[in-house]
Amino acid sequence: MVLPYKHEPLTDFSKKEYQASFLAGLKTVEGYLGKNYELVIGGKRISTEDKIVSRNPANKAEVIGYVSKANKELAEKAMQVAYETFQTWRKVKPEVRADILFKAAAIVRRRKDEFSALLVKEAGKPWVEADADVAEGIDFMEYYGRQMLNLKNGVEVNSRPGEFNRYEYIPLGVGVVISPWNFAFAIMAGTTVAALVSGNTVLLKPASTTPVVAAKFVEVLEEAGLPAGVLNYVPGSGAEVGDYLVDHPKTRFISFTGSRDVGVRIYERAAKVNPGQIWLKRVIAEMGGKDTIVVDKEADLELAAKSIVASAFGFAGQKCSACSRAVVVEDVYDTVLNRVVELTKELVVGDPANQETFVGPVIDEAAYNKILQYVEIGKEEGKVLVGGKGDNSKGYFVNPTVIADLDPKARVMQEEIFGPVVGFTKAKDFDDALAIANNTEYGLTGAVISNNRAHIEKAREDFHVGNLYINRGCTGAIVGYQPFGGFNMSGTDSKAGGPDYLLLHLQGKSTAESF
Ligand code: NAD
Ligand code: ALA
Repeated sequence: MVLPYKHEPLTDFSKKEYQASFLAGLKTVEGYLGKNYELVIGGKRISTEDKIVSRNPANKAEVIGYVSKANKELAEKAMQVAYETFQTWRKVKPEVRADILFKAAAIVRRRKDEFSALLVKEAGKPWVEADADVAEGIDFMEYYGRQMLNLKNGVEVNSRPGEFNRYEYIPLGVGVVISPWNFAFAIMAGTTVAALVSGNTVLLKPASTTPVVAAKFVEVLEEAGLPAGVLNYVPGSGAEVGDYLVDHPKTRFISFTGSRDVGVRIYERAAKVNPGQIWLKRVIAEMGGKDTIVVDKEADLELAAKSIVASAFGFAGQKCSACSRAVVVEDVYDTVLNRVVELTKELVVGDPANQETFVGPVIDEAAYNKILQYVEIGKEEGKVLVGGKGDNSKGYFVNPTVIADLDPKARVMQEEIFGPVVGFTKAKDFDDALAIANNTEYGLTGAVISNNRAHIEKAREDFHVGNLYINRGCTGAIVGYQPFGGFNMSGTDSKAGGPDYLLLHLQGKSTAESF
């Protein structure tokens, strides 16, 4: 019998033994920096001339790996393989598919420090963030494996005398999984295994800034017994390979996580029925956020300040769930703002390979420039009280930045910046604060810090976000505990790590037999 699901514990790095094993993980990764990674199509390694160069965002000179790059021809080849392999994989028993996930989870668990260390190097994640990312990936495997076992016999429906009815879930076909760099392990692995365990075959196109960790995960799934051709690894340009696969008539579904603009583009393109296509494509799209922490006047103000700082600056604000807006009721606005400024000044910015670093680099030059442009806009729209500067001489570092006294409709309060920048707005009262919190086109996460029961209940009803948190920060959803996904332009509200997630990768089949 499979043991009940429990989430993977986070590592307590105050303990010497865990510090030592993390440092050993970093050494392991340093031992394979700069290697080549090939495409994997039908189990075969394919090398291309053209390479993606994956670099450490904290140290541009350090190359993590050279990764072969798919073009349209190779994407087509991968599609043919995935399409053919679907005919066999769909018939593999769900128990066998789930076992592969459980084994892969066990392999990653044994190599947890190495995978976390790879995220430190390739994504610029500080230790605790990298550890949480890998733990979440393990959770997805453990959780979806069990979910498939629950779904394998379908759902009971009524039968009548002389008639036997069944209602089962069958897989869809070939899925294109397009993943982001910010949860380079968890989201890449989670979206991939959800599709696989449901009986679909997959073309995985990871983000071009973090393709090495995805290549390592493909190796893990092979070691866990995934047959050749079920998962095909096709890193490449979003514009070339991404569009080609999204448009492809044999693509049955697309599982995308990334920015609003790319998500909207994929949604629109996938809606078009192309020659030879005999289905309507399904799109799972998890997109951006502009997430708010609301602070009430009856509240633990120290908790409020700490929650804002942790949610705004953890992983340098590069989480779809990050707090980029603090909306504070006027009676306590100055107190909360001043404390946030104080706490922000204490944060250690630097190389995430050092345990004490809280704020590491942002992912690349484009992100660095975009964030600093928003800081300039913020200087026009409000007051920069701390931060506002960057240094890209070695890596892409932006100091954690607090911008105060913003109009709720200011650009820095409306547009996703995706960096260590938080804007403050004053609200007249709690109702006004909730109205401001709801005034963006997004609806991913949000938090309310309040000791007023009526206000908490009002937030439950009226704060329109997919993930609402009360008296804590707005990041850090746990698989199986807080299913994760947003409303409005934050996506299709497919709740990753939730009880109905696999159904998005399946279709219901009803059979009625008379006798
Ligand atoms: P992005 O949209 O730039 O890229 C995401 C993926 O899409 C990458 O693999 C990229 O190569 C690919 N892509 C780019 N153009 C494409 C195209 N034309 N066709 C197909 N694929 C294409 O996003 P990112 O910078 O990697 O990630 C950050 C964004 O992701 C933020 O907006 C963040 O809020 C969002 N995000 C959302 C969630 C969520 O669950 N809602 C989780 C993580 C990140
Ligand atoms: N699952 C991640 C979080 O909740 C995105 O922060």
